[in-house]
Amino acid sequence: MTKYILLMASKGGVGKSSICKQLARELHRIGHKVQAEDYDPQQHFARFVELHRYMFVEEGDHIVIDTQGAHTETNVQLMEAMKKEDALIIIPFRPTEDDYAEALRMRDRLDQFQLLNKSIFIVNGAYRENDKDAKHYIKLLSDTVRVSKVVFTQRKAFTKEPDSKVNSEISHFINTEMRI
Ligand SMILES: Nc1ncnc2c1ncn2[C@@H]1O[C@H](COP(=O)(O)OP(=O)(O)OP(=O)(O)O)[C@@H](O)[C@H]1O
Ligand SMILES: [Mg+2]
Repeated sequence: MTKYILLMASKGGVGKSSICKQLARELHRIGHKVQAEDYDPQQHFARFVELHRYMFVEEGDHIVIDTQGAHTETNVQLMEAMKKEDALIIIPFRPTEDDYAEALRMRDRLDQFQLLNKSIFIVNGAYRENDKDAKHYIKLLSDTVRVSKVVFTQRKAFTKEPDSKVNSEISHFINTEMRI
């Protein structure tokens, strides 16, 4: 059965496109047939797909979807469509007060669409694995939503060719939190 993996957040710049790229790369590496969709007019993920055609197929068993960092009509339609699919919605947020406020807004929106049970929030851009702020916001959010215990740290290599540390975070996330 096809699995949809959507990166979504009402806030821009939280790492949706970067995480799409890293997840797609790793899913391909471990042998999945990966399909890509980019609903963000900025087309950052689509450009990556063009440059790395070998990682992707037209009809995959995993469809990685990037979205625009705003509450758009397209995102509403996507959320509506995910109700009846085998989907995982990944909501990245940076460990800051403003991102936390946006994460709560996303939580309420996902709840309206009855998608909370298909959603996982993840800290992106933590300063280290045991970042105090990251832990603080994970604890606060965990009362009402599923939050990844794996965090993505702030690393130069996250945005280009991943090094072994980035690879290990991504594969740890896939193995322990994505249940695929
Ligand atoms: N873990 C990380 N470590 C270092 N840099 C990161 C990390 N995650 C994202 N970035 C950088 O932060 C910036 C925003 O990331 P990205 O474009 O992935 O976010 P986005 O949510 O897709 O943004 P937008 O809403 O504009 O589409 C980029 O410059 C990216 O390279
Ligand atoms: Mg983006």
